[in-house]
This record gives sequence, structure tokens and C-alpha cells, in this order.
Amino acid sequence: VNAENNCIVIFGASGDLTHRKLIPALYNLYQIGRLTEHFSVLGVARTELNDEDFRQKMREALIRSEKAEGETLEKFCSHLYYQAVNTSDSTDYGKLIPRLDELHDKYQTCGNTLYYMSTPPSLYGVIPECLAAHGLNTEEYGWKRIIVEKPFGYDSKTAKALDVQIHRFFEEHQIYRIDHYLGKETVQNLLVLRFSNGLFEPLWNRNFIDYIEITGAESIGVEERGGYYDGSGAMRDMFQNHLLQVLAMVAMEPPAIINADSMRDEVAKVLHCLHPLSEEDVKNNLVLGQYVSSDIHGETVKGYTQEKGVPADSTTETYMALRCEIDNWRWAGVPFYVRTGKRLPTRVTEVVIHFKTTPHPVFSQKAPENKLIIRIQPDEGISMRFGLKKPGAGFEAKEVSMDFRYADLATPSLLSAYDRLLLDAMKGDATLFARTDAVHACWKFVQPILDYKAERGRVYEYEAGTWGPTEADKLIAKTGRVWRKPSGMMKKKV
Ligand code: BG6
Repeated sequence: VNAENNCIVIFGASGDLTHRKLIPALYNLYQIGRLTEHFSVLGVARTELNDEDFRQKMREALIRSEKAEGETLEKFCSHLYYQAVNTSDSTDYGKLIPRLDELHDKYQTCGNTLYYMSTPPSLYGVIPECLAAHGLNTEEYGWKRIIVEKPFGYDSKTAKALDVQIHRFFEEHQIYRIDHYLGKETVQNLLVLRFSNGLFEPLWNRNFIDYIEITGAESIGVEERGGYYDGSGAMRDMFQNHLLQVLAMVAMEPPAIINADSMRDEVAKVLHCLHPLSEEDVKNNLVLGQYVSSDIHGETVKGYTQEKGVPADSTTETYMALRCEIDNWRWAGVPFYVRTGKRLPTRVTEVVIHFKTTPHPVFSQKAPENKLIIRIQPDEGISMRFGLKKPGAGFEAKEVSMDFRYADLATPSLLSAYDRLLLDAMKGDATLFARTDAVHACWKFVQPILDYKAERGRVYEYEAGTWGPTEADKLIAKTGRVWRKPSGMMKKKV
């Protein structure tokens, strides 16, 4: 299904996200024919630019992304427009009315408007109010949808306040909270793997699963984003949103059908079942870390507190590991070990399902563990590990793997996370967008960690380029387990 005819209004059009992600995503959709000719993009920001200046900036960004050239690029750019607006001044939004009228007329977009708030979060409450002051939120003439980028609030209280503010002017069905992890092909594949195969689901519970590991590792540091990151940390930046969403996909019950309501009902349900963290749990089951300078491949890498925009005495965590549990029939007693960090040895996001061992050892030595490794990125794929007989005398078992790599599929995925999510928003499909109850369940769950951080809870150092503080190893070792150390790619198909 293609996007519905519409005008996309991007607030924060001069920002990084617009030229790095949004415009390339729209271009890709245009190129593969998922956007009809009936669309326009109206960039909005404070900077005074005219349509042609904006087009030129976006053209350059697209050429830099090496995806765009020639006639398609020129045709796409002809759909781009710009309007300078002081986004904190309500009266200035009046300038949008004639522009939108003109664009809806020209492209026959029937008033359908998708607002994208790609601005600092301080404007998330302001923009809806200013739009409403000019009647730009009403659905009398076409639909009006609004996309909110993360972070949705800073903690439980501010997230609720933000929702109240937005809900004064937009109804829940109009609000699309974007979490780009849900746009990832392999995150969606978790659902297909689980719910379209008879093989896995019967084993997908406390009777057969010993524990689950979820890793979101990055090898980069905070780059140019020190100022933002220092107020956020790994907990708010990765865990509260992306990794909890992945956890929900792993742990949720099968929805009766895949549509926005039933999917998001199940996601919210499982997030509500996360075992609340007591003060004791936070002390015993959480490890926070911060990277310090070290040499990686002969090059000295800065420590976190030496990064641009980071105060020298910052105690913000760039790593976190947590053991958590889900209080329901399916998962009672199964530990979920979740970790994320910057400046780890490699970039990898994966889920590892560790199955229980056989009830009785028949052979003399310990059999290899059965694991299902779901690689979300990079080198997306799935690997099943189990024991088989080592050729030769005796009954020695060795671990073998059965691997599926996405790259081996004949048709590569054409849609990146932003492509997919923007297209869904333009189709009115909110299945892969976070609903308010799920967002609040996540904040509620992490609030005790935020409180611990606020009281300056212990943050351990780890050397850049290592797998985090040794305390994280001790955390999982308490139950005799070890973290998997993913080494780059999965094995190539032979
Ligand atoms: C963003 C975080 O939401 O996700 C970044 O703000 C992080 O700090 C990024 O690097 C990770 O996304 P991906 O798609 O590269 O795994």
C-alpha cells in the first residue's frame, strides 16, 4: 500500500535529523514508487530561507548520501518547500495557513497533513498548541497526524505532563511516537519468527528457556552529541525506549491479529508485567559504567569526560546492565539480562535465547547449550546453536550452528527504519509506533533506576573498547552465567 496523498510539515527542518534521515527516507520512498506525485514537504525552522535555498541544501545532503542523482532527484526536490517560522511564537504559525492551502491545492492532498516534530524536546508541547491556535490540528478538512521524536519526556512525571499537553490538541489516534528500533526489519522479524512458526512458540516460555540476553552494543563514543547525551545517559538514550521495545517483542503474547490496537495491547501488557524494581533490586541487579580513555588498535581514544560538551566531573552512565524479570505465567522466574553501552568492542544488537539443558546427562561430558541468536544488526540473521557428535571414537559433543543471514535472501530489504515508519504514518498505520500506555509502563519501570542515578548511584569505569565494567560480569556470574561476547559477524554461508 502506498502513502496517502499528503503534505509533510517538518519542524526543525534545518536540523541534523532532517537531512540525515528524514529527507533521504522520503527520497527512497519516492524513488521506489511508494509516494505518489501527490505529496509535498514543507520545511519549517527559524532560519530565513526560501524554497530554492532549502531545496539546494536537501539536494546536497541527498547527493552526499550517494543515493540520489539525475532526474529523480530533481523531480523529488521540486516537491520541497520552506517556510521560516519562529516556532516558539504562536502568532507566527499563521504564516503556515496560506502555504498549506497553496500546497494542498497544488498537489490535491485534500488537507491531509503529517507534522513531524524534529525539534528540541522543549518544543514538543509548544508546537501542538501553536498549531491548534490556528485550527491546524482539526480534521474537518483532511487528516492531521503528528510524529513525536524521542525522548518522550525525561522521567515518569515529565512524560505524563507531555502527554497531557499534546492530548489537549491532538487525540491519541493522531499521535505517532517514533522509536526507530521498531522500524528495523529484524525487530519486526522477531514477530514473524515467533508467530508464523509452529516450531518455536511451544518452547518460548519458562519451561524451556533458561534465560535471555539482550545486547545493544555500540563501538562509537558520544561523538558530537556530548551535550545532549550527558543529560540522558545510556538508560534514557537506549534502554528506556529501544531495548525495552525489543524486550517486549521477545516476550509479548501473540496478538489475535496484527493491527495497531491488538499489537500494542500485547506490548503494553507485557511491559506492565515487568517486575517492579525495589531499591534492593537496583543495588543488586543493576550496573552502571562510564568509559575511560584507552588505546584501541594503537590509537588513543578519549574517555567520556574528555568528550566535547561533557562536564569533567560527569557521572552520566555510558553503559548499563540490568537483570530483570517478567511477572506472568509465561516468564515467571526467567531472568532477562539486558545491557547497552558506548565504546564497546563492536557494534552489535542481538537477542540470545538460552534454552535449558537436558534433564539428565547421558554422555560423560557436558553437552553444549542450545541457543537461538537473533542478530538485529549488523549482518542481520538468526543462528541456532546445538550439540552434535564430534566425529571419531566416543560420544563427545561439539557445538554446531545453523545460520540464516538476511543478506542471502534474493530480495534485499528496500526500506530502512525511517522509510518504513514514515510510510506507515502516511498510511495511518500506527502498529509500529509506541502507544502512550507502553511509554508510561517503560518510564514507570525505569523510575527506580532514575532515582538511583539522581542520588549519584555508583558508576563504574571501563576502558573504551572493552565489554563494560567487570561488575557487569559479576552480575551475571551470580547465577553461574556469562555474557555472550559477540565477535563481529555471524559465520558466512558456505
Ligand atoms: C539513538 C540514540 O536513538 O539510537 C543513539 O540516541 C544511538 O545514541 C542510536 O547511537 C542507535 O541506533 P542504531 O540504529 O544505530 O542502533
